[in-house]
Amino acid sequence: MYMMENDIERVLITQDKLKKIVEELGEKISRDYEGKELILVSVLKGSVVFMGDLMRAITIPCYIDFMSVSSYGNETRSTGVVKIIKDLDTNVIDGSNLLIVEDILDSGRTLSYLKDILARRNPESIKICTLLDKPDRRVVDLKADYVGAVIPDAFVVGYGLDYAEKYRNLPFVGVLKPSVYEK
Ligand code: IMP
Ligand code: MG
Repeated sequence: MYMMENDIERVLITQDKLKKIVEELGEKISRDYEGKELILVSVLKGSVVFMGDLMRAITIPCYIDFMSVSSYGNETRSTGVVKIIKDLDTNVIDGSNLLIVEDILDSGRTLSYLKDILARRNPESIKICTLLDKPDRRVVDLKADYVGAVIPDAFVVGYGLDYAEKYRNLPFVGVLKPSVYEK
């Protein structure tokens, strides 16, 4: 039987560690947004696993919505071209506090574009929560407000993150063997 695990060089963040990271983020977000109208905006598809766990770690009432933008195709590097594939269903109103939920902040191009277009809808606030942050790869000046883990410059998959749409269902975050995308 073909095992996805065979394509993984090393496990970077275990299932247990992911659980702790998400619990801590959920607690902090619940405290910070107490009494406010919170809308979690998940960026498809990479953040769905994180979103599913994070929303259950948040103990205050909140809404969820999804956006889909294209940035990568099947490559391992950002093209800089970002296109909206699916917009929010939610009408952003004056009192809305948007929290963008992302899998990984890499070059920052995708999120900086997304933050800009959402900011034009005049929410009360707009912040970013990313599970992973690769600061070494940043090309635009952007910082996340909530970061699960800072990781080195390596291509990672699992817990929602893909390479060519594969490996999203691995329950941990692991470094992909370069031989997988170099062949
Ligand atoms: P950015 O625009 O360069 O910040 O890219 C963000 C998007 O690129 C993420 O939402 C991911 O879909 C993808 N991405 C960046 N780095 C990785 C990685 O190491 N593994 C899988 N996807 C990645
Ligand atoms: Mg992706």
